[in-house]
Amino acid sequence: MEAVNVINHTKQEISFEKILVVGLGQLGLPVAKYVKERGFDVYGYDNNQLVMESAEKQHGIKRLENFKEIDVFLICISTHREDDISSPQIDGLMAIIRKIAKEATNGKLVSIESTVPRGTTRKMFEILEHRFHVVHAPHRWFALEEEIHGVNQQRVIGGVCDCCLRTGIRFYDGVDSEEKTDLEFYTGMKSYRSLGIPMYSVSTVEIAELSKIVENADRYLQIAFAEDLYMFCKANHISFAELRDAVNTKWNVNILEPRDGIGGHCIPKDTRMFLESSEIKSKILIAAQEVDKDYRKYIEGIVKDINKLNH
Ligand SMILES: NC(=O)c1ccc[n+]([C@@H]2O[C@H](COP(=O)([O-])OP(=O)(O)OC[C@H]3O[C@@H](n4cnc5c(N)ncnc54)[C@H](O)[C@@H]3O)[C@@H](O)[C@H]2O)c1
Ligand SMILES: [Zn+2]
Ligand SMILES: [Zn+2]
Repeated sequence: MEAVNVINHTKQEISFEKILVVGLGQLGLPVAKYVKERGFDVYGYDNNQLVMESAEKQHGIKRLENFKEIDVFLICISTHREDDISSPQIDGLMAIIRKIAKEATNGKLVSIESTVPRGTTRKMFEILEHRFHVVHAPHRWFALEEEIHGVNQQRVIGGVCDCCLRTGIRFYDGVDSEEKTDLEFYTGMKSYRSLGIPMYSVSTVEIAELSKIVENADRYLQIAFAEDLYMFCKANHISFAELRDAVNTKWNVNILEPRDGIGGHCIPKDTRMFLESSEIKSKILIAAQEVDKDYRKYIEGIVKDINKLNH
């Protein structure tokens, strides 16, 4: 690594003015709107022109002219294959990182908010040669409960290097204990303009990456158990609903409902990211994937039977 490229670790502070949200989909659009509400100068970048146009016209997210002027890059692009939503893919992410490496101004902050497999953020940090601060702040935004689980709920953050983490926390949370200014000391006011999101910092960027995919793998497991139990009940002529209600009266048990199988572009894909993050695979998750496959076949069969009856 060329010393001349690396960020000066002594005291180089970014002022956070111009923020770019890359990827304005399900996650990126609410992020951009939130950052705008917080008073920042917000720009958007999406390779889908229709998405970009609608963000611009309907939400006032400005189209980006030049990467050079941006202080913070918030990367919210998809990390699944276009033709298979449960397959992880980070090619688009890599392309954006290369573009930042080429076109942006050294010393700025790059935050990966998309969900990524273990090791991805460090790879990006290496491409950027630490000319930029790099953090991973995986998102927990939940479409169905945007009011309570929206953009500003508590999140995990990790940096590849301490200076990156410090800069990230300063931008997201505004709290930076090592650099408290007199203003904050005397008035209790946050000294930096920030997103005002409570961040839970971890000591390595890999823990931040794993925290997100383990979170969703845990959810996968819970749903798969519900599916398993449902099929058990059907095979043994037992009411699943009644059994579930009875078991859930215990304070520390919460059996879920199985519904239509484990879908969407987050939980199955993130569970695969977790499985692919190690040579030694989690046996219980592999079994859970099998259960989900069986359950889908099972409900497909029921739907077919119902259709037959209706004919
Ligand atoms: N949607 C959620 O509820 C949610 C919650 C937490 C985390 N996440 C994670 O956030 C990330 C984004 O998810 P999403 O739901 O917003 O996906 P999405 O498919 O709705 O949106 C992604 C957007 O990124 C754009 N994009 C893709 N590649 C690009 C590129 N190379 N350059 C510019 N733009 C590009 C697409 O055009 C699209 O508009 C994923 O990693 C996902 O796992 C999503
Ligand atoms: Zn550093
Ligand atoms: Zn740094």
